[in-house]
Amino acid sequence: MTGGEHPARGGDPPQPAAPAADPRKARVAVLLSGRGSNFAALARAMAAGEVPGEIVLVFSNRPDAPGLALARDLGLPTAAIPGAGRERADYDRLVVAELRRAGAEWVCLAGYMRLLSGVFLAAFPGRVLNIHPSLLPAFPGLEAQRQALEYGVKFAGCTVHWVDETVDGGPILAQAVVPVLDDDDEARLAARILEQEHQLYPQALRLALSGEFRLEGRRVLRRRP
Ligand code: GRF
Repeated sequence: MTGGEHPARGGDPPQPAAPAADPRKARVAVLLSGRGSNFAALARAMAAGEVPGEIVLVFSNRPDAPGLALARDLGLPTAAIPGAGRERADYDRLVVAELRRAGAEWVCLAGYMRLLSGVFLAAFPGRVLNIHPSLLPAFPGLEAQRQALEYGVKFAGCTVHWVDETVDGGPILAQAVVPVLDDDDEARLAARILEQEHQLYPQALRLALSGEFRLEGRRVLRRRP
């Protein structure tokens, strides 16, 4: 499969409902449930022109997520729909409607604590990315840094991958390695991984937006210039 045929480039992008600000920039929604430091790193990289995108919505399943407050401080549009107790596909229909209203074309999950349904993924085929604080496929799911420490690995890290319906399971766009030190505890290791996350997510998004890759099986290979 070539980059042109990869789902990241295929499918009809949703029709923007909001006016397009800059047609050269991809319209990106960020979904988060917590602190929002990866969202902030993406926002910084876009504002600095390092990623040809603009954040058109910061969405959360938790109205009290600190990341939403951060987005409001930055003057970015936000929305929240409480997720507790809602069936996954029904909930995702509401979220997709919000994202379409904002004219989002791409979705970056950044600490979004819900598994996406097929309804969501069909709305943004090949255009949903996630960041996870481990070297996948090791340690998917919750508390990845603690899992890495307890397992005793010598190298941990982070991964940006396409999202499918499995937990942290889609094809890998980019990874960064972080050595595990003898005196690490979970907090120290998580902090060093987070520093790398903030570098990696913008780089990976830039690659995804560029289309300068092809997919061979699960392997994401950069196109030779
Ligand atoms: C990050 O470690 C990310 O890899 C994981 O959730 C955490 C979110 O942190 N998916 P933040 O909200 O971006 O600060």
